[in-house]
Amino acid sequence: MNLSISPGKNNVGAYINNINLRSLNQDLATEIKKILNQYGVIFIKEQNLDPETYQNFAKTIGQPVVYPRLKGLDEKFPFINVIERKPDDKNLSFGSSWLHQDTSYLSNDRPRYTMLMGKEIPAGQGNTIFSSGFNAYDKLPDDIKEKIKGATAVFSSAGPIAVTRLEREKEMGIKSSESMEAEHPIVITVDGKKTLYVSPGHLMKIKNVKEDEAEYLKNYLVDHVNKEEFIFSYEWTKGDICLWDNLSILHMASEIKNCRRVMHRITIK
Ligand SMILES: [Fe+2]
Repeated sequence: MNLSISPGKNNVGAYINNINLRSLNQDLATEIKKILNQYGVIFIKEQNLDPETYQNFAKTIGQPVVYPRLKGLDEKFPFINVIERKPDDKNLSFGSSWLHQDTSYLSNDRPRYTMLMGKEIPAGQGNTIFSSGFNAYDKLPDDIKEKIKGATAVFSSAGPIAVTRLEREKEMGIKSSESMEAEHPIVITVDGKKTLYVSPGHLMKIKNVKEDEAEYLKNYLVDHVNKEEFIFSYEWTKGDICLWDNLSILHMASEIKNCRRVMHRITIK
């Protein structure tokens, strides 16, 4: 099967064109997953799926998981989280201002993919910002590649992003849980290509590098993945689906002011 695909800005991810997920079959699902692993993030425009079709599509990618601390849409769709931004929300939106890789603070059985579908989209704001770990690794100077060969990092749910998370949890009346921490290699191979796994929003410390270079490397890598040349700011239209692999793609929300936005999210192992 040959799907029509075109690259996102700065070669971040791929659009899959002329596709209707309402008529999904096994061949198509296999092809979509192949493109997802290869490009890291896929963009499928204006699908407007009902919850059942949306949840079934997620199941062709992997095992949907119940996201810690957030409620499902209802009993029939426990895997769909409603992410709602209200017009009078004053603080930054969920996960904004720090690029991150979802749940990097969990150990090796952490969920791998995140999928969003736009339900209510305000005009001209609320983009999701993606950065490609593949491209960022590729463009590292050779001496940095050498220094971080075999490096690991400690990631924490109480990392830089936590300020937003804690505010959000308070606002939603959720009792904050203990912070979670995990250590992972920062150079990993996905689909035969090396990618950077540095999740700045959760990054605490780089390990297995020269002690006196750990802080420098941490700052260097955080600056590096934030460079304009690796970024694609995705502008939503209603019904769009973005599905990304947290091993190879970093993301963050952008600021939203005085308007309502609703997304349906599914987290997938
Ligand atoms: Fe996130």
